[in-house]
Amino acid sequence: MKILVLNGPNLGRLDLRDSKIYGNLNFAQLTEFIKSAAKGVGLEAEVRQSDSELELIQWLHEAADAKTPVIFNPAAFTHYSYAIRDAAAMLTAPLIEVHLSNPLAREEFRHTSVISGVAHGTIGGFGPDSYRLAILAMKELL
Ligand code: DQA
Repeated sequence: MKILVLNGPNLGRLDLRDSKIYGNLNFAQLTEFIKSAAKGVGLEAEVRQSDSELELIQWLHEAADAKTPVIFNPAAFTHYSYAIRDAAAMLTAPLIEVHLSNPLAREEFRHTSVISGVAHGTIGGFGPDSYRLAILAMKELL
């Protein structure tokens, strides 16, 4: 079964971000890690990243139409994009929100997620393992 793993702005440049917060994998390595974690539990992960709110919304619409389960790291859009929340609310298969870091242990503006309320659940704070744990949770849900 196919799942979509969507990633929001600046995650394509993980190698240039603070490794103490986001870990040591670049985005290509993170993609491989996600694909292999999914394969390990019999799922096929398609991993995408965009800095564009429009593109992320279009991908959510595509997932809704195809009834594809979604694991989503909306990155900074997590904290303020009502348009992404509304698109996520229209999904027709489970949605799991993920974060590499634990946003609740960081700056106050990161303490709000406008996405969590329309997600089945949220996993954050485990670095790349957040995605692996989300894949295990998704496998259980499916
Ligand atoms: C993030 C946390 C967000 O607050 C931040 O804007 C990101 C990444 C994470 O994976 O920890 O870009 O979603």
